[in-house]
Amino acid sequence: MRIYFLGALLGPLLTTSIVCAQVKVDQATLDKGKRLYLSNCIQCHNKDPNLKGSLGPELIDAPLEIVYSKVMTGVYPAKLPAGFVPKRSSKVMRKIPKLEKDIPAIHAWIQSVKKKK
Ligand code: HEC
Repeated sequence: MRIYFLGALLGPLLTTSIVCAQVKVDQATLDKGKRLYLSNCIQCHNKDPNLKGSLGPELIDAPLEIVYSKVMTGVYPAKLPAGFVPKRSSKVMRKIPKLEKDIPAIHAWIQSVKKKK
């Protein structure tokens, strides 16, 4: 009984801390993010995440939470972060959950090449 309670309490906390965990953004992290992006995302997204791809939209406006949700589940989260507007209403993207631990690196690389508007 007590263990279940602790699990219910810690489960969401742990998940949140993984999603929000800040990666140390060193060059090795950015290189890895770029490599994984180029090998997993550009069938649909553009090689340059500032631009639209063949199927998927530009990715530079998506916060980590959104990248995490799309890669882990394929869909946008039920509750969107304040100010974020999904680029599409389609449900074409499929999840790629094997990338879980490297999502922060992929997101960090995308942000590192973001063009100032
Ligand atoms: C099979 C094609 C495909 C692949 C592969 C793919 N995506 Fe997508 N992605 C899409 C499409 C299409 C959308 C638009 C919404 C939808 O239909 O799911 C999208 C939307 C997104 C969004 C939301 C962007 C926004 O601002 O609304 C993010 C973030 C994203 N993809 C990240 C990724 C990342 C990171 C990878 C690689 C790890 C990836 N996608 C691989 C097709 C793909």
